[in-house]
This record gives sequence, structure tokens and C-alpha cells, in this order.
Amino acid sequence: MNSTFEKETQVVILTGAGISAESGIRTFRASDGLWEDHRIEDVATPMAWERDPELVWGFYQGRRRQLLDVVPNPAHDALVELERFLGDGLLLVTQNVDDLHSRSGSQNLIHMHGELRKLRCEECGEILVAMDDVHLEDKYVDCSKCGVERMRPHIVWFHEMPLKMREIEMAVADCDVFIAIGTSGHVYPAAGFLGLAQACGAHCIGINLDPPQNVDLFDEFHQGKAGELLPDLVNSWVGSE
Ligand code: OAD
Ligand code: ZN
Repeated sequence: MNSTFEKETQVVILTGAGISAESGIRTFRASDGLWEDHRIEDVATPMAWERDPELVWGFYQGRRRQLLDVVPNPAHDALVELERFLGDGLLLVTQNVDDLHSRSGSQNLIHMHGELRKLRCEECGEILVAMDDVHLEDKYVDCSKCGVERMRPHIVWFHEMPLKMREIEMAVADCDVFIAIGTSGHVYPAAGFLGLAQACGAHCIGINLDPPQNVDLFDEFHQGKAGELLPDLVNSWVGSE
């Protein structure tokens, strides 16, 4: 039943919170609209940052520290194997702001909802990688380029536009195979990539613990945990035992 990929197969993968669940990071939908015990509108909107920067900053510092306690799981590693086989023919698009895909070794990777490890200056656009060091203890970080105080988390908040949308949509429209892993299909525009891929003729594969909202659009759906299913699926796709 499973497909086999050629080296030339163009593949786009969309991952969501479910792929990091087995590493110990809670998904959004599992938290009843809360994110690590906070209401999303209190910590993940531009208005929240304006109204209460201390709360928002503290929240993201907590999320950054959590990254130090988690490691990639077999699902992240399986995608690295797939990239080894497909090379530039694989584009990995993640909605996750954790760094587990890159720590596992994925290279051709777009973080469409931003990255916990990065800060951005709203004035000059400077982006700073800020989590391995003293910045984890800092109360705010000033921009070293233009001097503006208080760089913001480089996170796409509600009411903001995801990053690199044009590049992603072009790749989705062009791909032969589209694979969605660990995402509930609730949050647009990411949830719309499946429909676009399907409309453009891609073979669409879903891997998720529960059937996601848009499950009917998949040509193949594999229900279960990504860390348990993906290693074998990748082996079957690349034709090894
Ligand atoms: P959700 O929390 O909405 O969905 C996670 C999905 O993963 C659910 O459908 C679960 O059934 C599934 N799941 C849980 N554990 C799994 C496992 N071990 N293996 C496979 N699947 C598993 O997360 P996302 O779809 O990523 O946006 O949410 C999308 C966006 O909504 C997030 O990026 C975030 C949030 O609001 C922003 O922060 C902008
Ligand atoms: Zn600046």
C-alpha cells in the first residue's frame, strides 16, 4: 500500500506540535486552549507584548529553558534519514517553534511560526540567536545593531503573518508528495497546504495520533504516534528493509 520514493521525488513535509509530543513538549490542542498554563491571548499576541512585556518575556524564557530538557525523538531522526535520501528534493516546513528538527540534523527547514531561540528587533529587523548563554537569565535584550531596547521573541503571534509563505506555497504547489505529521489541521494558513497540495496533484500522506480536521483530503492516513510509525514508513519510502 505504501508509496516508494525515487531520488528525484519532490517532497514537502509539514510538521506540527504532535511530532515533538514524544520528546515531552505539550501540544496545543491537548492543553484545552492553554499553552503551558497560559491563555494564548495573554502571551502570544502583539497586543500582549505591548500590554505586559514582562509576562510575555517570562513566558518565552520559560519555553526556551524547557528546550534544554528535551531531545529529538525517532520521528525527528527519521526525517533526517529521508533528507539524506532525497537531498534538496525535501523541504521540511514546521509550525513548531522548538529547535528539535535542527538539533536532529534537518537542514532544508523553514520555521513558519518563528523560533524560540531567536529574538528580533522591531526597529531594524536584526535577528539574534539568544538561548545558549547568558541571555537565558536576561530581563530583555537590547538590539546591538540599532540600540533599541527590548528585542521581541522571533515568534509569529496570533494576528501576524507566518514567515516565508510564498516560498512554502510554491514548493507545496510543485511537490509530488505532501506529508503532514502531528498537526491538527485547525490553524490556517498551514492547514490549507494539504488542500493546495491535493489540488495540484500531489500524493498526500498524513500521520497523526487522532484523525485531523482535514483527514478526508489525505490519500493515505496512518494513525498513531509519529515516533513509532515514521521510522518504518521512511524505510518503506526509501526502499530499505
Ligand atoms: P495541535 O496541538 O493543534 O495538534 C497536534 C496534533 O498532533 C493533534 O492532532 C494530535 O492528535 C497530534 N499528536 C499528538 N501526539 C502525537 C504523536 N505522538 N504523534 C503524532 N501525532 C500526535 O498542534 P499544531 O497543529 O501544531 O501556532 O498547531 C498549529 C498551531 O496552532 C501552532 O503552531 C500554534 C498553535 O496555535 C502558533 O503559535 C502561531
Ligand atoms: Zn535594531
